[in-house]
Amino acid sequence: MQICRTISELRKVIAMWRAQGQTLGLVTTMGALHAGHMSLVANATRDNDRVVATIFVNPTQFGEKADLDAYPRTEDEDCAQLQAAGVDAVFIPSVDEMYPDGEETIVETTRLANMLHGKVRPGHFRGVTTIVAKLFNIVGADAAYFGEKDYQQLNVIRKMVRDLHMPTNIHGVTTMRERDGLAMSSRNVRLTPEDRIAGLVLSRSLAQAEKLAATGATVEDLQTAITDMINAEPRATLRACDIVVADTFELASGPITETIGIMLSAEFGDVLLLDQREITP
Ligand code: PAF
Repeated sequence: MQICRTISELRKVIAMWRAQGQTLGLVTTMGALHAGHMSLVANATRDNDRVVATIFVNPTQFGEKADLDAYPRTEDEDCAQLQAAGVDAVFIPSVDEMYPDGEETIVETTRLANMLHGKVRPGHFRGVTTIVAKLFNIVGADAAYFGEKDYQQLNVIRKMVRDLHMPTNIHGVTTMRERDGLAMSSRNVRLTPEDRIAGLVLSRSLAQAEKLAATGATVEDLQTAITDMINAEPRATLRACDIVVADTFELASGPITETIGIMLSAEFGDVLLLDQREITP
């Protein structure tokens, strides 16, 4: 596996593959890889001749500097996992490489980025689309793989690609879970043992919502059931429980007649956890 730290190094490697007519898949990450990332890699290696993974803790998508500083960095272990999984090249740029002095361009899905979870984390999705657009331009992949756990992020990226006519196909990959149901996340290692147990309330409340939906409950019933359950967990601070129509990302209401997406975020200590579920009537 090639380790590239500059754009020009990576472009040389990719140009060689492209000259041989090979297809290219991309998995963008911020490192601290877990089985959720590796399932993105598995999809990418299955579908493409060559796979590039990126490791870059993107400062522009973090609100608090403390959150950015606390983000786990495990480059050696990450590279070992990527190599074992058959990744052909990993791109690990510096902040200066990605954000050169004097740069001023941002990419933003102006509506989608600033609603729902975007309101809880102002500027977050703008940071994501800006860095993902840069990485797409650098790599020029045929396909890129993103987890469904970050449901709004996946939709924001799909929208950016559509609006800017980017030639990369976006694939959403099912959320990977720990055996007890906790959605896998690089942030999980920062949970205290008590918060790790308390965090299960997210997947439990989603399972409860799915059961309710099967009995004909409305969107409002689901919202109440979820918020009641999370608010009853003293270690959780609910930040958002948004239920949207999956196709349009408009807020859903009333009887469930089309596929809805439920997006949750809650804090456990200083760790923000996300979870998500799509429900089809
Ligand atoms: O999902 C992530 O890990 C990040 O938001 C991404 C897509 C790599 C952009 O920094």
